[in-house]
Amino acid sequence: MSRASQLLSRWLWPACLAPLAACGVAERTAADRFTRSGELLALSGGDAGAANACFACHGLNGQGNGAGAPRLAGLDAGYLARQMDAYADGLRRHPEMESIARQFSQADRQAVSFHYAAMPFDPGVRGEPVSPPPALYTAGDPARGLQPCAACHGLAGEGGGPANPPLAGQPAAYLAEQLAKWRRSERRNDPGNVMLGISRRLSQQEVAALAAYAATLPGRPEYPAAFPAARRDDPRNDASTPRRHAAAR
Ligand code: HEC
Ligand code: HEC
Repeated sequence: MSRASQLLSRWLWPACLAPLAACGVAERTAADRFTRSGELLALSGGDAGAANACFACHGLNGQGNGAGAPRLAGLDAGYLARQMDAYADGLRRHPEMESIARQFSQADRQAVSFHYAAMPFDPGVRGEPVSPPPALYTAGDPARGLQPCAACHGLAGEGGGPANPPLAGQPAAYLAEQLAKWRRSERRNDPGNVMLGISRRLSQQEVAALAAYAATLPGRPEYPAAFPAARRDDPRNDASTPRRHAAAR
């Protein structure tokens, strides 16, 4: 156990457990030790120290802070761990996240990822959905070789399998910033450079419109890819073979 965790379990733990339970954070199956140690890391910041505790920016329920810090709740555990690795390796640039990820061992990155993957997505109060949706989201633009965003991220922004993350519940500013990061080569870990290729073909206006639209999507509260039983038969589980057409829902 790290020093920070020891400290936490000695004095902070009893003090904060009651309010956290009231917030619903302590909802978990008692048998899930892996998730529980991830919970400890999320609340303590592990070896990165209490000042870097995930919940401070990503929220007690992992829904993000509505601005720069994204929702983590219900994202696929493998996706989350891969992003932590990318921050640590400098393939995804962000000062705070790089510093935090570098102070987490691989095992701790995985444990905290499982913790957030098991948290339910809370659609909460979103803005009014933009209507009609941008054509690029639902139909793409074959002339520019652009598949519809919905083919991989889902018509409700719920994501598709472990590789294609949900966009629903993510702040518009965060989504637009990610597309800009790919163009600036500050995010370089997307499988097959799929998002790099897409982001380079979008204008600033298109990025703004797509981000604003995706941020209002409802997603699915129980994101199925977070649960191993649901992912087994999911044909979308391979990022290299995305669905060609948006599924009819
Ligand atoms: C100081 C605030 C802060 C703290 C503390 C923090 N994060 Fe973050 N996190 C951010 C911001 C801001 C981003 C968006 C960075 C970017 O643009 O790449 C982010 C992004 C992420 C992402 C990428 C999500 C995605 O959808 O791709 C993951 C995963 C993540 N954080 C996990 C964690 C974990 C786990 C912890 C605790 C160990 C943590 N963060 C602590 C601010 C923070
Ligand atoms: C062929 C599949 C595919 C298509 C089509 C696609 N994406 Fe993606 N998208 C991905 C994958 C895979 C990732 C995760 C990349 C990674 O692991 O870093 C991603 C990630 C993202 C992210 C970052 C999410 C986060 O949590 O950090 C944004 C924003 C995004 N896509 C927007 C779009 C938009 C807008 C479109 C349509 C113009 C689109 N995508 C079309 C596969 C796709």
